[in-house]
Amino acid sequence: METLEDRVLADPSAFRIMTGDRPTGPLHLGHYFGTLANRVRLQDAGVELFVLIADYQVLTDRDVADHLGEHVENLVADHLAAGVDPSRATIYRHSAVPALNQLMLPFLSLVSVAELQRNPTVKEEIAASGRATVSGLMFTYPVHQAADILFCKANLVPVGRDQLPHQEIARLVARRFNERYGPLFPVPDALLSSAPLLLGTDGRKMSKSRGNAIALSGTPDETARLIRRAVTDSDRHIAYDPDGRPEVSNLVLLAALCQGRDPHEVAAEIGDGGSAALKRVVTESVNEFLRPIRARRAELIDDRAHLRRVLEEGNARANAIADETLDEVRAAMGAL
Ligand code: TRP
Repeated sequence: METLEDRVLADPSAFRIMTGDRPTGPLHLGHYFGTLANRVRLQDAGVELFVLIADYQVLTDRDVADHLGEHVENLVADHLAAGVDPSRATIYRHSAVPALNQLMLPFLSLVSVAELQRNPTVKEEIAASGRATVSGLMFTYPVHQAADILFCKANLVPVGRDQLPHQEIARLVARRFNERYGPLFPVPDALLSSAPLLLGTDGRKMSKSRGNAIALSGTPDETARLIRRAVTDSDRHIAYDPDGRPEVSNLVLLAALCQGRDPHEVAAEIGDGGSAALKRVVTESVNEFLRPIRARRAELIDDRAHLRRVLEEGNARANAIADETLDEVRAAMGAL
């Protein structure tokens, strides 16, 4: 059967990809193998790419967006270092594109409160935030995310599984708008990454706030230290068995992804070497893999003016498109 992936590769110019991240810290290997590598691969296959730095979304679970400017520039650097090409891709931020944000208002009229309240990702974020009160933004940011996607009429959104409920809301908004006011938006498809889920060095979800994440921007020494402290088990025989031995298998997977090889093969090679040998292989593989990305990133970080220029150009292009879409939306709704 022909998959969405096949259709994209057969006719890349028929697709526009849009995706993004919250600027809350540096990107790590979980981001890289989960989505960043996929963005670069699709860009290189000829699909048009929009990358959003979702700065307003930072305020869903905190009151203040700390070090925002720094995080935004670092995100631009991470993307360029990983291979996103600013002469083909558009990198921009929420707060610099007023017409995108204005789309949220008509879009809010298309969804019910019940639909927003049942979003499982939002429920998990509320539980994880540990806060006594829940802001209106927490419930409505998936509608804002629909505006992120629909303003540029993207039809393909590469995301992780946790984003699927938001993707459903974007599809709902597109369909309801088209039914009510006439056809304007493509109904965007989610594209799930085929890479297996990479966990942090403690076997839990990789996240910089847990101190278990290997940052693209980290030094080889920091990387070695994190891996030295990684959780393993006492069985000296190294095997790839994600269900039975999740921590060891996750380290094997990390080395395998960095080497571009099959994890079973990597495990067999280490054999009875125990965790010490495993950790040596993982550290070398990760540092070797990241070496060129880190070298490019270090150059980029030294040229802040260039990073700012890339973002200004992306913002300008996003604004032109957003203004046009907002005009079309207002015309379709009777010049509201
Ligand atoms: N919610 C996404 C995250 O937390 C970031 C994001 C914002 C996004 N707008 C988007 C992702 C639009 C895809 C499409 O990672």
